[in-house]
Amino acid sequence: MAVSKSFLVSSKLETLLSNPNDPSPSPAPLIRIPTCPMNNNGSRRGLIQRARCEISSSKAASVSALEQLKTSAIDRYTKERSSIVVIGLNIHTAPVEMREKLAIPEAEWPRAITELCNLNHIEEAAVLSTCNRMEIYVLALSQHRGVKEVTEWMSKTSGIPVSDLCHHRFVMYDKDVTQHLFQVSAGLDSLVLGEGQILAQVKQVVNLGQGVNGFGRHISGLFKKAITAACSHEASAHASSSSARMLVVGAGKMGKLVIKHLVAKGCTKMVVVNRSEERVVAIRQEMPPGVEIVYKPFDEMLTCAGEADVVFTSTASESPLFLKEHVESLPPVADGRLFVDISVPRNVDSCVGELDSARVYNVDDLKEVVAANKEDRAKKAMEAQGIIAEESKQFEAWRDSLETVPTIKKLREYCERTRAGLVERFMSKHGDGMDKKTWKAVEDLTRSVVNKILHGPMQHLRCDGSDSRTLKETLENMQALNRMYGLDVELLEDKIRVKVEQK
Ligand SMILES: NC(=O)c1ccc[n+]([C@@H]2O[C@H](COP(=O)([O-])OP(=O)(O)OC[C@H]3O[C@@H](n4cnc5c(N)ncnc54)[C@H](OP(=O)(O)O)[C@@H]3O)[C@@H](O)[C@H]2O)c1
Repeated sequence: MAVSKSFLVSSKLETLLSNPNDPSPSPAPLIRIPTCPMNNNGSRRGLIQRARCEISSSKAASVSALEQLKTSAIDRYTKERSSIVVIGLNIHTAPVEMREKLAIPEAEWPRAITELCNLNHIEEAAVLSTCNRMEIYVLALSQHRGVKEVTEWMSKTSGIPVSDLCHHRFVMYDKDVTQHLFQVSAGLDSLVLGEGQILAQVKQVVNLGQGVNGFGRHISGLFKKAITAACSHEASAHASSSSARMLVVGAGKMGKLVIKHLVAKGCTKMVVVNRSEERVVAIRQEMPPGVEIVYKPFDEMLTCAGEADVVFTSTASESPLFLKEHVESLPPVADGRLFVDISVPRNVDSCVGELDSARVYNVDDLKEVVAANKEDRAKKAMEAQGIIAEESKQFEAWRDSLETVPTIKKLREYCERTRAGLVERFMSKHGDGMDKKTWKAVEDLTRSVVNKILHGPMQHLRCDGSDSRTLKETLENMQALNRMYGLDVELLEDKIRVKVEQK
């Protein structure tokens, strides 16, 4: 679709100039128009109105504004590529009351993506909303304005004042975002039970994002790569983990949570003991294919415990279900049988912990488990860092290599425009009476001259991102060509056009 320069520039200026309260550190006015004097009180509002009026009224002014654009301070849009940014609030930074207000149900994610991409400086978006985190991933034309717009959007949708959001939010850019999402997806950013499902939730972001316009190439690429990295990490972790036999006693709310957690951790078979079978049947129906939940009645609890390595207890029984003499009589297992008792009052009697054949954790001990878990996580995180670093490097290289594509396209278009223009001029002077064959020969000859000359620059622009030194050189070459042929301004126009067309 052809969009005139005057339309493009004035529309963008409308957008850029229409926010006089923006505290951006960029110098004001954004574009200096020499013919536009300050109004009486010299206010910026006056200048803006004047600028709007002059720009929309004359194409020449627009072209001149475009020239100014090339040299003005807002060339941050052209000098810097768009940034991937995450703005989030999670278990580490914000209380649950705040996370509840921010939560966006899955069915609303596509709408949220569209709304975010309608913001002036947002090109692509994704929403990761779980009970432990609300994180918005965007591709932003400007980091500062992108963060500001998304925070305001979050405030509007949640009703939480911007100042509170700013107090509790975290913001990361580019490589740090990659690192963060890869760690989140691998479960390395989680605290306790439940967050093991995070990988499934990250996969859901990709599933629901398919076909949504704003879930573009950069953001979807980031999420897909995060899933690959998490799967590699999980595969290597599972390869080294033992296949312990699991027993869950109790199938209420907490029992269900335990079962879900075990499944998320890769456990595909477990025995569940409960007084009534119905609850177990209901839980079984919620499980993904391939997970086997074996129901056993309450009077078989001790036999089942004898056949398990790990026993989780989560019933509302007022008296202990496992006494010392019960556990003592069970067949031993290597390293001792592990009891994890999350019930209050306790289901596993305190004396059971005196046995060499049993290790018992209750709710209070869980705090220590969390601490120990953190240490273990730190160790695992170190191991996973290798995988994450490698995957993250590959993703960054892929993103970098994407950067050169528009330049290649623009440079080709620029040369083709120049060639076609010169041929046209030549034909208007000498083309009279030229036969079709000669005319085609001129076309072919000029095309092959252009192709021959372009061959070298194109070679230096193409890269597969596998060699970081070559990649750096390639990006330098790209920037040099952008500067030499003024392609960066054309690239800016393209971005603006996309935003204008969206609106
Ligand atoms: N909910 C929480 O946020 C939370 C957090 C931490 C710890 N806890 C503790 O976890 C335990 C379970 O809580 P919940 O929220 O899962 O409760 P729930 O949803 O009401 O479920 C209760 C479970 O206990 C079983 N049960 C009740 N009385 C029993 C008895 N006398 N003997 C054997 N089984 C009995 C029930 O079996 P039937 O299905 O046969 O009735 C059911 O499986 C409680 O001790 C609670 O204090 C709860």
